[in-house]
Amino acid sequence: MKAILLAGGNGSRLYPLNQISSKQLQAVFDKPMIYYPITVLIAAGVREFCLISTPHDLPRFRQLLSDGGRWGISIEYREQPHPEGIAQAFLIAADFVVGDNVVLMLGDNIFSGGDDFPRAMAEFHGGATIFAYHVKDPERYGVVEFDRDGKALSIEEKPAKPKSGYAIPGIYIYDNQVLEIARSIKPSSRGELEITDVNREYLRADQLRVHRLSRGFAWLDAGTSTALQEASAYIEAIERRQGVKIGCPEEAALVRGFLTLKQFEALLEGMPNCEYRDYLVSVAAETRRLGGFK
Ligand code: DAU
Repeated sequence: MKAILLAGGNGSRLYPLNQISSKQLQAVFDKPMIYYPITVLIAAGVREFCLISTPHDLPRFRQLLSDGGRWGISIEYREQPHPEGIAQAFLIAADFVVGDNVVLMLGDNIFSGGDDFPRAMAEFHGGATIFAYHVKDPERYGVVEFDRDGKALSIEEKPAKPKSGYAIPGIYIYDNQVLEIARSIKPSSRGELEITDVNREYLRADQLRVHRLSRGFAWLDAGTSTALQEASAYIEAIERRQGVKIGCPEEAALVRGFLTLKQFEALLEGMPNCEYRDYLVSVAAETRRLGGFK
């Protein structure tokens, strides 16, 4: 399974913060926002990434993440000159996906808790798998309606009158048909290639699976200055309470076996003294104590 991280757009709802950096590079508590989706995908076993962003912001992503080698993954980069829709990601990264399955993740979606994504990816056998999460303001999102048996009936993008309270988060798993589907859809009235239209195609072909995320799961939005601050406060509260970090790619890579303990410890050598490093040092010590990794 390959992964596309979509991290473009102009982040205008974060003005004036968007003047200093792209939305997906802003801090969510103690890490750049993009660390969170990358960690989710590493934890699910994904090793090959393609990050898409604007020509203006791409150099900064490269500087931060380089080729991903230090986390035991590979990262390629592609430009999206204009934000012409989430589904455009498949046209831009078609040569990266080639014959494989692909998970598309939006760089501003933050999740915490549960093993739903690793399980969904391990169980994926074609078609499309998307997720549903109950929210109080579904009209801001793609919305999925279910029948009595929990089967998806309809999908609508930002409906004025939502048919359910279930929003579709920004993580989507597709088989290779998605490349063809993305080529076939037309821009919407807002001039974008809509991911909702891709999902509708899979629904029409009866190849769409919708996995409802449990209540204990947190899906955070960081699209406005207030939401960004709330996401930071949430992450800080959980990290303080549990003494573990959310969105730490190094730790996920160690747990997943993408890095040996030796490689992990070598990473720490190059890191300045800071709280983040202190945490990783404690992870290394605990791992060594348990003796579970080489
Ligand atoms: O967050 C989940 C929602 O994301 C879904 O429920 C909706 O179905 C989906 O359309 C999308 O809605 P948004 O209104 O949040 O989309 P937005 O235009 O804000 O884009 C989401 C992220 O993707 C944002 O960080 C910028 C990035 N993006 C977006 C577009 C349209 C790009 O990088 N390029 C693009 O062309």
